[in-house]
Amino acid sequence: MNDKLKQIFDKTSKVFILTDENVAQFWLPEIEYWLNCKNAVEIVIKAGEQHKNLQTVQRIWKTLMKHHADRNALLINLGGGVITDLGGFAASTYKRGIKFVNVPTTLLAMVDAAIGGKTGIDFGGSKNQIGTFAEAEEVIIDPVFFETLPQREICSGLAEMLKYGFIADSNLLNVNLENYQQYITHCGEIKREIVMQDPTEKGLRKVLNFGHTLGHAIESHCLTTDYPLLHGESVALGMLGALWLSVRQLGLDEKVLQNFEKQLPMLLSETEISFSESDIEPILGYLVHDKKNKDEKPQFVLLEAVGKPVLEVTLPSVTVKEALEYVISKLSSQ
Ligand SMILES: NC(=O)c1ccc[n+]([C@@H]2O[C@H](COP(=O)([O-])OP(=O)(O)OC[C@H]3O[C@@H](n4cnc5c(N)ncnc54)[C@H](O)[C@@H]3O)[C@@H](O)[C@H]2O)c1
Repeated sequence: MNDKLKQIFDKTSKVFILTDENVAQFWLPEIEYWLNCKNAVEIVIKAGEQHKNLQTVQRIWKTLMKHHADRNALLINLGGGVITDLGGFAASTYKRGIKFVNVPTTLLAMVDAAIGGKTGIDFGGSKNQIGTFAEAEEVIIDPVFFETLPQREICSGLAEMLKYGFIADSNLLNVNLENYQQYITHCGEIKREIVMQDPTEKGLRKVLNFGHTLGHAIESHCLTTDYPLLHGESVALGMLGALWLSVRQLGLDEKVLQNFEKQLPMLLSETEISFSESDIEPILGYLVHDKKNKDEKPQFVLLEAVGKPVLEVTLPSVTVKEALEYVISKLSSQ
């Protein structure tokens, strides 16, 4: 245990560990041993985005209350982005806020979700509609968790790593299944740097939404179908749409789009996608609820060049539809 964690634990009245059923079976006893908190109250929820909701938060709040968690209680969020988003939200709202520590166990959570203080749950059928800005006291990154992480989840995390490549550092566009571990810290540093300058997403932080406008709409739609996509897979498709729009709207070099299209099979290698024209309208419907909207118009982050993002681009709905049609046409030719 590092000094920072020791200080946190010294000031803690009671420790709670939130995790999901998959992670619990591999890592819960280990974490209790490593953090020397065998008396922690365990809160084990079902895995998956469909449980990132108010019912689960209520269950967490109730467990905290049942075990008399006071304002010096600590919640350890052990899991992927669903757990760090949910746990962060439950902790930041319980008794107006208790401390939480994130122990991300997926690549995606290590490079993105566990860092930067955005917490939240899905609501009303749309993603992350309710949430807070609240920073974890500490984020513990450990590659040991990759021992049990399915390859599909690694691919999902790679998409968010490539996002940093597009918006901040072109070296990250070389990330792949062999070399990703060496870039994890760097991705975290990029995110922390951006968040430090704009913690509540008034401007610069919006850059982190590259690929997410279409990506969230695709993800929300797919959650209602028999082929739910992972967050990173949806973001990969969202980035494809955003790159295509960037070429058309801002003159981005077409090679950037073409190179990304060569990486798509790697990102989507572990999933089966069966989109058709009939998916377009429902996906466009989700764009209306996007949190990034202004006057009900979706806002896009596009690129003038790699590392030169342009924020708050609004587009006519016909153009957005064309981008989605392009994404779907590319998937059928994969
Ligand atoms: N707050 C933010 O800034 C932010 C940023 C990006 C994404 N997110 C959110 O993160 C979520 C996606 O996170 P995710 O991709 O980590 O998904 P996830 O939390 O659902 O985890 C993916 C799956 O992997 C399993 N798992 C996790 N770690 C494991 C391990 N080490 N071994 C075996 N199985 C393991 C989980 O049980 C789950 O089934 C989305 O809800 C998204 O909105 C938040």
